[in-house]
Amino acid sequence: MSNPDELLRIEGIRKTFPGVVALDGVDFDLRRGEVHVLLGENGAGKSTLIKMLSGAYTPDAGRISVGGQQVRVQGAQDAERLGIATIYQEFNLVPDLTVAENIFLGRQPRRFGMIDRKRMEGDAERLLRRVGVHVSPRARVRELGIARLQMVEIAKALSLDARVLVMDEPTAVLTSEEVEKLFAIVRQLREDGVGIVFITHHLEEIAALGDRVTVIRDGRSVGQVPASTPEDELVRLMVGRSIAQQYPRQRPDRGAALLGVEGLTRDGVFHDVSFEVHAGEVVGIAGLVGAGRTEVVRAVFGADPYDGGVVKVSGSELKRHDVNAAMAAGIGLVPEDRKGQGLVLDASVEENLGLVTLRAATRAGLVDRRAQRVAAERIAGQLGVRMAGLGQQVRTLSGGNQQKVVIGKWLLADTRVLILDEPTRGIDVGAKVEIYQLINELTAAGAAVLMISSDLPEVLGMSDRVLVMAQGRIAGELAADEATQDAVMALAVSTPTPHKDTEKEASRGH
Ligand SMILES: Nc1ncnc2c1ncn2[C@@H]1O[C@H](COP(=O)(O)OP(=O)(O)OP(=O)(O)O)[C@@H](O)[C@H]1O
Ligand SMILES: [Mg+2]
Repeated sequence: MSNPDELLRIEGIRKTFPGVVALDGVDFDLRRGEVHVLLGENGAGKSTLIKMLSGAYTPDAGRISVGGQQVRVQGAQDAERLGIATIYQEFNLVPDLTVAENIFLGRQPRRFGMIDRKRMEGDAERLLRRVGVHVSPRARVRELGIARLQMVEIAKALSLDARVLVMDEPTAVLTSEEVEKLFAIVRQLREDGVGIVFITHHLEEIAALGDRVTVIRDGRSVGQVPASTPEDELVRLMVGRSIAQQYPRQRPDRGAALLGVEGLTRDGVFHDVSFEVHAGEVVGIAGLVGAGRTEVVRAVFGADPYDGGVVKVSGSELKRHDVNAAMAAGIGLVPEDRKGQGLVLDASVEENLGLVTLRAATRAGLVDRRAQRVAAERIAGQLGVRMAGLGQQVRTLSGGNQQKVVIGKWLLADTRVLILDEPTRGIDVGAKVEIYQLINELTAAGAAVLMISSDLPEVLGMSDRVLVMAQGRIAGELAADEATQDAVMALAVSTPTPHKDTEKEASRGH
């Protein structure tokens, strides 16, 4: 019992919410200098468990011990005193404060009763250097990209001298280079004796970084295995069955071009982007972060303006460049940022699923509520949305289940051209396959699908053609049989040549 390396022990934790047993007897322990992975399907209870450690929730039953002593964690201060720092799935920084202010929020060093800015910024600078991020302590958090935000969160945890660092899906929003950087920091912390609780849906990260894995299913810990456990065994523990085919690609014969994009340009952002997506086809867009992928699809959907070029649906040009025109033409977009753009958090699952269809139905002057409910029930069932019922507020769904609702909303709306921007971010391995099967059903029904994903195996596994973007241009197109990781990466880091005419002009200038 009194293992001197034991930092933390959780025994028999239970937590219920109205209509849901989120945790029903979880055991877990953490040692000095280890990365302990928490693995489980969407809605299994991972985030709820770590909220017990951060003091955001208190357990209904069970014990938490720190360093062999039973403790109560009844708020952020308790957690801080116990040396537990948490980086949430949704960040916790204040956008309008500076980086240094965020790191030392509520604990700013003072001098003669005033905040000692100089010292605070100097301290922040040292912490930021330790995590290896180049950002000014005086920068506003609002101006930072997601990877840097996360580094700031880590710097903040370091400033608390945390012995336990809890990270809830930290890699979900990072590029592969950023992931490597994060891993280097985590490994260093482990060397320093910090215990790290790490949640991820990317199984390949487990062997790369982890020491032990605790698997949670339906609110119970169902096993503890070494991180070197083969992935298919981890999947079996997690979803209770094995997954035969990760990318079940089934496509009908390709039909007519449904989406046509010609010479689309937004000055300074993307240039001369042209491609088509046909009925029954999935076209993937790969590229590095910053290549302009999201910007292009937002323009196609009418959410952002463009300066030149045309968007056509079934051959006819969209005259107005706005979301209503795009939606009326049958285009749907599952956005990258689900919280900001995809969901009404305070509304129910049913209301969110009906958002698109309801708009169409109200326009037609009749709303068949009953039919809506039946349809919502069907799609939620197909996607396996884990919820207390259709009336549950979307805010209280787990991260992955929120993403399923965003996708379900468009699936319900008879979308003919569905654009998916990072559709499976935060989705567990089992549910991913369900989403791929729904993509197959959509294409079988004659829809066209355009999918952006930073998950290369997913793009390669599901696309019939892959467009690779680099520096705001289409650097090349690869057919499914020539699209390998190497071929995609070679194009993604290339410098695409501008259109022939401009090229000539440029060379004449030399
Ligand atoms: N405040 C709340 N009110 C009601 N239900 C909640 C609340 N918080 C969590 N739940 C429910 O508890 C269950 C567990 O959710 P949790 O967020 O812990 O899952 P998770 O394992 O982190 O999933 P994901 O991988 O999708 O992030 C879910 O069914 C969720 O809907
Ligand atoms: Mg979660």
